[in-house]
Amino acid sequence: MDENGHGAQARVWLETYGCQMNVADSQLVTAVLRRAGYVTATKLEEADVILLNTCAIREHAEERVLGRLGDLARLKQARPEVKLGLLGCMAQHNRAALVEKAPWLDLVAGPDAYRRLPEMLGESGFDPAVDVRLNRAETYADISPEYGAGVRAYVTAMRGCDKFCAFCVVPYVRGRERSVPPADLIREISELAARGVREVVLLGQTVNAYRYELVGFGQLLRMVAAVDGIERIRFTSPHPSDMSQAVIDAMASEPKVQPYLHLPLQSGSDRILAAMDRGYTSTQYLDLVARVRAAIPELAISTDIIVGFHGETENDFGATLELMRAVGYDSAFTFKYSVREHTRAHRLGDTVSEAEKQRRLSEVIALQEESSLARYRALAGRVFPVLIEGPARRGVGMLAGKTPDYKTAIFPARAGLTAGDTVAVRVTSATGHTLTCTLA
Ligand code: SAH
Ligand code: SF4
Ligand code: F3S
Repeated sequence: MDENGHGAQARVWLETYGCQMNVADSQLVTAVLRRAGYVTATKLEEADVILLNTCAIREHAEERVLGRLGDLARLKQARPEVKLGLLGCMAQHNRAALVEKAPWLDLVAGPDAYRRLPEMLGESGFDPAVDVRLNRAETYADISPEYGAGVRAYVTAMRGCDKFCAFCVVPYVRGRERSVPPADLIREISELAARGVREVVLLGQTVNAYRYELVGFGQLLRMVAAVDGIERIRFTSPHPSDMSQAVIDAMASEPKVQPYLHLPLQSGSDRILAAMDRGYTSTQYLDLVARVRAAIPELAISTDIIVGFHGETENDFGATLELMRAVGYDSAFTFKYSVREHTRAHRLGDTVSEAEKQRRLSEVIALQEESSLARYRALAGRVFPVLIEGPARRGVGMLAGKTPDYKTAIFPARAGLTAGDTVAVRVTSATGHTLTCTLA
């Protein structure tokens, strides 16, 4: 109640850690809470409810959140009436330890419990409200997330993962694969187009495993391509084993599906790939790369690499470098292996020292920098259509956007050009991260 006796609206501060799927989930959570009468706090100090949407993928990700929880404990001491909640993958991963380490938490909610958040926030008691049940059917298909401003929107197409790679916690924290019905996706995307969104990125941990009744991912891409107003379609992350011919055909024949593929490799060693249970060999991966490149000549490819997995020898690591050279990635996300509780590789433990992991990581990063620079520089002189996103972060009077193959392009602003327009630009110079262009 405020001083006039009216019920004041509770203000929510929500911080998001982890991947794009968590960003999308935070938009969903915001929508759920808004429906229940909550509003967004503009700063932490004025929040009545503080929520952290967390990630459990590597130890480092969890440590960041635990550190943050420590800061918030002090805030909670000063203002005990503030409700503090932990959402997302960490909530699911180690709720027992969390409640023990952070007894000042008021609620712990896993990724399938977001509908219940208003109810959980309403509960008062000594113990925190905890809901970490996974639900095989929950897709939140009927809830429209609170998308941010901007010409690109990230839309969750499927949730969960059934792959159980030996190193990965995702199947345990996000539960089984389930896909959003195509009718709901198309309705959502049409509404986004009407609001000025020009590019959609379809999301899922194995997004190309999407299947709803008879609709597979290839067909879904074609359905999204039929939405008026949507000009560009991307998706992340596809799994190499689910890269069907139907998906490749849709990418090749639907001009709106952009020539960019994030194709996580993890390791170039067949021994390690088998130990990771990735479901492909290095040869199968390279064959796939050759097939997609043949179908989509202008394709850019990025990847994820883990160094120092259990049992990785110098030879295995050499095979990763070799495969990276063979593909010539446009960019890569590279990680040191982090042992995760609950996973199958957990009991195997670590065999590669931290120092050695660091050395291998530095080596893959250096190789990737070289590869990126060569791939970006090779585009000098070329002309691309760029969807304008807004002012460039650096460079006064410069605008920024992405090329079809997802490279950041910056170019001089001109009167009349605004976010959402597509403009032709010519590449004049490049680093391994940015193309500097002129208007063509
Ligand atoms: N579903 C995607 C990956 C999602 S997680 C896929 O299968 O490709 C994003 C990336 O984090 C993974 O590709 C992997 O490179 C990395 N990762 C996952 N678990 C990890 C772990 N235990 N240690 C280090 N990196 C990990
Ligand atoms: Fe994790 Fe493998 Fe699933 Fe990707 S496919 S989320 S790496 S288990
Ligand atoms: Fe992290 Fe969960 Fe994404 S573990 S990477 S936030 S699915």
